[in-house]
Formats: sequence, structure tokens, C-alpha cells
Amino acid sequence: MRIELGISQARLAEISGVEQHKISAFELNKTSLDDHSVKKLLDVISNTEEFAPEIKRKKRYRGHSYSSQKNDSKRTAKAARVTGNIDYLADLSLLDLVKRDGPIAISLFSGIGGFSLGFQSAGYNVVGFAELADDLAEIYQVNFPNTKRIGSDVAEIRSDAIENVIREVGAVDIIIGGPPCQGFSLSGKRDVNDPRNYLFQEYMRIVDLVRPKVVIVENVRLLTSMRSKDGGFVKDQILADLDKCGYTADLYEVDASEYGVPQARNRVFFMGVRRDLGVQPSFPAPDFGGRADLFTSRAPCRSFADACSDLPYLESGDSSNDPFHVAVKHPDHVIEWLWDVPEGASAHDNEDPALRPPSGYNTTYKRQVWLEPASTVQTTFGMISGCRNVHPIATRSLTVREAARIQSFPDTFKFVGSMGTIRTGIGNAVPPLLARKIALHLRSTLFDLVEVPSLKVEL
Ligand SMILES: C[S@@+](CC[C@H](N)C(=O)[O-])C[C@H]1O[C@@H](n2cnc3c(N)ncnc32)[C@H](O)[C@@H]1O
Repeated sequence: MRIELGISQARLAEISGVEQHKISAFELNKTSLDDHSVKKLLDVISNTEEFAPEIKRKKRYRGHSYSSQKNDSKRTAKAARVTGNIDYLADLSLLDLVKRDGPIAISLFSGIGGFSLGFQSAGYNVVGFAELADDLAEIYQVNFPNTKRIGSDVAEIRSDAIENVIREVGAVDIIIGGPPCQGFSLSGKRDVNDPRNYLFQEYMRIVDLVRPKVVIVENVRLLTSMRSKDGGFVKDQILADLDKCGYTADLYEVDASEYGVPQARNRVFFMGVRRDLGVQPSFPAPDFGGRADLFTSRAPCRSFADACSDLPYLESGDSSNDPFHVAVKHPDHVIEWLWDVPEGASAHDNEDPALRPPSGYNTTYKRQVWLEPASTVQTTFGMISGCRNVHPIATRSLTVREAARIQSFPDTFKFVGSMGTIRTGIGNAVPPLLARKIALHLRSTLFDLVEVPSLKVEL
């Protein structure tokens, strides 16, 4: 919301009275905000009319100038295609597989379907999805035309809608989904009136109705260190809730770069296996990264170059034949700050103070590294001022195609709607390649082994 308003963290801190370091840590997913700060921030952000004069005041660089960038042959040569790119694209093509003759799945809080795509490519039949935002649901539906939208708000999915799905398909084997972080209570009490409590509880309500064999809840890794107000860990509450619902549960802290995704992306997956199946939950072993020694057969982590080095080289404002590989045009002064910034460094690190952005931290205006895994793709990847959003070699933010590649969406995945919606959907997704590995692991350790027990749902 702050970015949409076009105000800096410093300005928001000044107007709202919430310290900038708190806003910054929150935006970097490092911490959550206390209720008091949230209220103060929302007061400013949701009353833009009232604060309009203050927000506009002192706005710098009013008359931005934009020139076209000259291509620099040294830079284009550096961005040459690497062999790992061939291998990676071959892996992405596996995500196009559609068989749907395997286990039956439902996706809740589905976004545009990163999680679903991985499962579908592993032969799962994703029969239903729920997504609140219509524009994200539209992208989902275009890509999964045979999957039924069983609801928009998970909290409003009624039991008869679930019963209809079960009647149609027989039984649902797995529910996958990532309730937003605010869906977990920090209050310490199971207060149904606490709006933060309810999304996870709603997820569990559907699980209880469907009684799938397996349930997976994905979230940011930060969740594992979050405590509720009673001092206990939120993660323990989640495990306890799954246990109470009849699932043997465990959690797995995962970095997507260790699963062949060319991106450092830390996430946590809670997995519950219905207790009567007598199977312990487990997670696939990493097949990339880790320390190279005689005993490991893991491939080196994939890099930005592995994901993107076949794409046309673009500078700020350039476009290509691919409507999603188009570079945002940045103002000249920003290009100047960043032009000579080396890989892995930020314009804030420039020796010349005139070439440093006026405020912010050195995780912003920062270049990525060509031969290392990309940084976590967030929904703001198109903003050059965002966190680590600058291309390793060109002086511009990431294109939609690059972000999609780094998130392991194959080029065949269809994007419709506004660029803002598309960026949100990509930034929020579970990388499909990681999802596929989880899906295949579950087939080999559970679904393809366990006899289907009779369904316990009373219709
Ligand atoms: C982290 S994203 C999930 C991304 C998805 N797992 C994927 O792989 O693409 C969470 C999604 O939950 C949706 N959401 C938030 N509240 C919801 C609700 N009450 N009911 C359904 N969806 C909701 C958001 O719009 C968002 O798209």
C-alpha cells in the first residue's frame, strides 16, 4: 500500500510516527508489527485524502527525465547464455505435463496456482480451488480450466459446496494451501473474533470436513520464530491443531534453492498425514546445494543466469517480442546511481555521496548476482527501489518473465490481467518446481503405496 501511494519508508515513518526501522523490518518479512503501529500506519494509508498534502510535501525529483540507455557491448557479452540454462529449461518443461490420473487435490488460498501447477505436473488431479481475489483467480482459471472454483473467501465456503465436490470425485486425497501470515493468531487465545485467527481455523474447518489423507500448509519461514502473546510458538499451535484434527504432523524449513529453483526462498511447510494411515510425514531431500564433498551428489545451486541467460538483453525501457519480457523505464538519476554498482552491491554503497539514494537501507537499489541464486522474488520485483530488484548486469528492475523464470513458472504458463496482478501472483507463489518435488515424494512414499481406506465423511 505504501508503494502504491508512492511514498518512501522515511516519509511514512515521519507522518505515521512509526519508526522507519520497524516499517523496514516488516516489509522485509523480518518481523511483524504490533497492533498499535499497524493502527497508526493504517490511519495514514487508508486516509490518503486527509494526509494528501503531507504525503505530497517535499516530494523529490518531480520533473524526472528519461533517456534511452545505450547498449554496452561488455555488459551484453557478460550476459551470454550459460549451459545450466538448457538444463533448467528442460526441467521447467516437465511442469507442462498434465495427466490428472493420480491423487485428487484441492488448493485453498490458491493464488495463481504455483502450488497447483507442481502437483498437476506430478499427475495429481486438482479438482477445486479457492482464491479470494478475482483477478488472481482468473489467472488460475485460465491455466487450470478443468479445476472448479469452489469459493472465493475460504471462510465462506459452506459444507454443502465441499460435499458436492466429494460426491463428484469420491474422496479428496490432499489439501494444499498457504493461508496468509496474518491468518495465524498471535493473541495466544483461540479467539474466534480475532481476525488474525480465523484464516488458519477456516483452513482446518475445511480439512475437518474433507478428511484428506494429507494436508500441507505453506508459509514464510518467519512464521517459525513468531510467538503468540502467551509466549508459545505459533508453529507449535499449528502442529497442535493438526494433531487435534487427527493428523500426524511435522514441519520442514526449506530453501527453494536446494530443490533446483534458482532462487534463495525460505519457506516452511507443515505436513499432516491422517493418523489412521500409520505413515509418518516426510519431506523430499534436497537435491541441490549444500557443501560439496565426496559424500554428496547434490548439484550446485542454480543461478540467475541458469534461469534467464537465454532471454534478450534489455536495458531500462527496452522491450522484446515477449510481452512479459519488457523492462520498466527508470528515471535518469536512478540509472546514474546504479550504472556502475557492481553485482551484489547497492547504490547506497557508492563512495560518491551524490550517487547514493537520499534515504533507505543498502538492501534496496541492490544488484543481484549473475552466477548465484536470485534473491527471493517478492510482489514488488518491478520496482528498482525495492529489495534486491536490480538485474545483475543491466541497470533496471526485473521483468515479469525473469521473475516467472526465477519462480520456476514455465513460459507456457498464461498470464492475464494487469501487470500489478501478475506481479502479485508470481511473487506470492510456491515455486512450481519445488511443489512438483513435494508432490512426487508424496506419491512414492504414500499415495502410490497406501491402500485407499474407506472415506470417513458422512454425507
Ligand atoms: C501466499 S498466496 C498463495 C499462493 C499460492 N500458494 C501459489 O502457489 O500460487 C495467498 C493467497 O491467499 C489469498 N487469500 C487471502 N485471504 C483469503 C481468503 N479469506 N480466502 C481465500 N483466499 C484468500 C490471497 O489473495 C493470496 O492470493
